[in-house]
Amino acid sequence: MHKVTLKKAVFPVAGLGTRFLPATKAQPKEMLPVVDKPLIQYAVEEAYAAGIRHMIFVTGRNKRAIEDHFDTAYELETELEAAGKQELLELVRSMNPGDMDFSYVRQPRSLGLGHAVLCAEHLVGSEPFAVLLADDLMVGSPPVLAQMAVRFAELQQSVLAVQEVPAEHTRRYGIVAGESINPQLIRVTTIVEKPAAEVAPSRMGVAGRYILTPAVFRHIRKQPTGVGGEIQLTDGIAGLMAEESVYAYRYEGKRYDCGSKEGFLEATVELALQHAEVGEHFRNYLKNLQVV
Ligand code: G1P
Repeated sequence: MHKVTLKKAVFPVAGLGTRFLPATKAQPKEMLPVVDKPLIQYAVEEAYAAGIRHMIFVTGRNKRAIEDHFDTAYELETELEAAGKQELLELVRSMNPGDMDFSYVRQPRSLGLGHAVLCAEHLVGSEPFAVLLADDLMVGSPPVLAQMAVRFAELQQSVLAVQEVPAEHTRRYGIVAGESINPQLIRVTTIVEKPAAEVAPSRMGVAGRYILTPAVFRHIRKQPTGVGGEIQLTDGIAGLMAEESVYAYRYEGKRYDCGSKEGFLEATVELALQHAEVGEHFRNYLKNLQVV
């Protein structure tokens, strides 16, 4: 069988980021930095590490900063060059290493994650693709999407990243249940968006990383509005399961929910502690702080 490789990633970044107001009044939530890097850059680097070179952003109004971030910054580069600041110049240039393509498409109205993914259909075409939600900052070695890409290469079917979540949190996630293939892999037989703990089919919650086959577009298009009055990606995946196998993969690594203030702070503290430049200073600072 001819094996298909993963070449494209979709980043739905049209959300308003109301949970981070006032910080997100005039700037995209995906541009909020954890230590020194915006959330969206962590996600793009993860896709790159999985071998993906075509990054597709589903944007909205007030999201120009994301396009600028991955574009050439002539004035900045000229000034850094003139000042002989080679290291900084390389850092700025590394954002767009020349072997990546960037495409942008707008989602004109907030009609949900499924709808956002559908907006990228004409750019994805008839290939498998990844979806990365930049709100979920994933730390893994190898990076989480790269782990999933290995599974996809073997299975050639959709793969969703999952983790066990506390019962009281099932309302925040797409929840899957199914038949266990091995300790890390489940063949999904049920997927429900944000069920209450009492009706959740399991405690396996979908994290914001998906590898999907293009057939999912047809199923998303058929969906009526779901939970929260939105067109849900989860419902599209449920439709896809009638046609193809869908797998859930228990990734190795850690997820920070940077869509919430608590998760964002946890990511900031933990990544600061690991940071080559500021890590040691920050560790000493925390020790001396005696907060608890
Ligand atoms: C979205 C998905 C949900 C998934 C979650 C992961 O929800 O709809 O199925 O579990 O991302 O972060 P959101 O967090 O956008 O409400």
